[in-house]
Amino acid sequence: MIISGTQLAKEIKENVKTQVAEAVKTYGRPPHLVVILVGEDPASQSYVKGKGKDAEEVGFKSTTIRKPDTISEEELLEIIENLNRDDEVDGILVQLPLPAHIDEDKVIETILQSKDVDGFHPANVAALWQKRPCTYPCTPKGIIKLLDKAGVQIEGKKAVVLGRSNIVGLPAAKMLLDRNATVTIAHSRTKGLAKTAAEADILVVAIGKPKFVTEDMVKPGAAVIDVGVNREPETGKLCGDVDFANCESKASVITPVPGGVGPMTRACLMENTLECFLNKMKKNNN
Ligand code: GUN
Repeated sequence: MIISGTQLAKEIKENVKTQVAEAVKTYGRPPHLVVILVGEDPASQSYVKGKGKDAEEVGFKSTTIRKPDTISEEELLEIIENLNRDDEVDGILVQLPLPAHIDEDKVIETILQSKDVDGFHPANVAALWQKRPCTYPCTPKGIIKLLDKAGVQIEGKKAVVLGRSNIVGLPAAKMLLDRNATVTIAHSRTKGLAKTAAEADILVVAIGKPKFVTEDMVKPGAAVIDVGVNREPETGKLCGDVDFANCESKASVITPVPGGVGPMTRACLMENTLECFLNKMKKNNN
């Protein structure tokens, strides 16, 4: 079974849209998401465009701030601080990666935790790892929703996460652990990686290498979630970290690229933005 992220994302966005219409009646304005893009990396440009499009689709106010990659760290931090102070801005997202002369950690820490729709702020990360209420990072949140939608049981299963990034691998592993899976975090330097992967009931792949996972690394009947977004070296076509054609028949469920995790990340960003907005409005009313 191929799990369509596009379809589930559409359902989530419909739900957000309904809640936005209600929120406008109650609070007099829709949530406002501000996305900051530094530089002209084509992949980042495409992601940011998608986020803006989805924000408009669900009825948010959406602003994209584009800055050249020559912007100083100081200037970028000042933009964020102004957005922090702006009561009519509910969510702030700085598209990563940033140019090397800008300290990403400093940028993420500067975003007000209550406006951190990505769930990257250290206080949000700590809350996730301590099982306190938090904003869940969008991609791992989307992965769990896809597994649930496909009817994959997580509890008691062996999950293997390939990749250990702050954005995907680590939080995805933690969220699977919190659903009572037994989790192994593997990476490009793991010895016997293929064997480890082949033991997984749930295989989450975020290793950033085109068609890295082949059929021999997939346990028969496994659920395979492909987080990769790569270009095929030969054709330039979009492809995942999983060799889809090679692995499809071995997996019980598998996500395609494109149309799998990608749209789910954006749908979860819309949910997170609405959540930040509602939390603020409810607090203001108390
Ligand atoms: N770059 C790649 N994925 C993401 C994401 O989820 N959020 C941000 N801000 N940057 C990214």
